[in-house]
Order: sequence, then C-alpha cells, then structure tokens
Amino acid sequence: MKIAVYPGSFDPITNGHIDIILRVSKLVDKLYVGVLNNNAKQLAFDADERVAMIHASLPEELKKNIEVVAFSGLLIDFAKQVQASLIIRGLRAVTDFEYEFQMALTNKSLLPEAETLFIPTNTTFLFLSSSMVKEVARYGGNIDGMVPKEIKDIVLGRLKKD
Ligand code: PNS
Repeated sequence: MKIAVYPGSFDPITNGHIDIILRVSKLVDKLYVGVLNNNAKQLAFDADERVAMIHASLPEELKKNIEVVAFSGLLIDFAKQVQASLIIRGLRAVTDFEYEFQMALTNKSLLPEAETLFIPTNTTFLFLSSSMVKEVARYGGNIDGMVPKEIKDIVLGRLKKD
C-alpha cells in the first residue's frame, strides 16, 4: 500500500495545491493532506478553517483515498504516524528549489525510509502562491481562478479591507 503525505500551510489552499492533490491521489493508495498547525507564522486562517476549506474544495468522488488532517510538530513524525513512505511537494520555479531541497534533505536525514517526491506544477499555476492570493484579496482584486470557487468568498471575507 503506497501512502503519501502532502504537507503545507495551505493558508489558503490554491488551485495549484488542488491540482497537485488530484494528480498525486491517482498515483497512491492513500494521500494525507497534512495541514501544519505550528503557530510559527502569522496565518490568516486557523488550522480547522484551513482543513475545512480543503474539504470543501475537493470533488466528492475523489475523496475516496484522500484524507485532510491537521498536524503539529515535525513532518516526519506525522509521516510516521500515518505510515507514509512518500512526502509530496509541488515545485513551481527554480526559486522554490533551494528551500525545498534543504527541507527534503533534512527530512531524509531524520527519516531515511521516506522519500520526498517533487511534482512540477501545472504551468497554469506557475505564478500562484497562497501569499499572492492573500495580497490580491486584501486589496479587492479578482481571485477567480486562483482558489477553488467554493472558498473564494471565505477568503475575500477574511482578507478584504473595508
Ligand atoms: O506550505 P509551506 O508553508 O511551504 O509548507 C511547509 C511545511 C509545512 C511543509 C514545513 O514547514 C514543515 O514540514 N513543517 C513542519 C516542521 C518540520 O518538520 N520541519 C523540519 C523539516 S523543514
């Protein structure tokens, strides 16, 4: 049984994340979307809200082998807990690489039996990040196409300044 974790802050989930989740869910028996709940950085949404937004965004028929779970502490401990041998990360541009490489090697040194797999983003989402979504939403820009339609109003409602 191939079990993978796709960890992230997902503050909020974007269409780029959804694309990775749907593609990876076809390659593995079980995919855990791990929502970090470390309180380390200033986030717009708490972990329960981020989990709920991911749930709301996933098509019902594709939820069969996908589970969305908040985790705290180290990613490798979460991976061990759900018996995952694969850690999934999406890669957009070369600028992502240094941070991702460092994280993959750190996780490898902590849990040698797990492998990090990098999935290149769909070119449509090359520019997309949760930070950009928040920036655009904050100033009343159009976030259609950036986040799933199910969560658009929640994102705008939280971020838009009056
Ligand atoms: O979406 P993000 O913020 O780029 O995701 C980063 C994440 C959650 C994958 C990373 O910060 C993480 O795994 N944090 C848990 C703490 C940890 O395990 N740190 C050591 C590896 S860098």
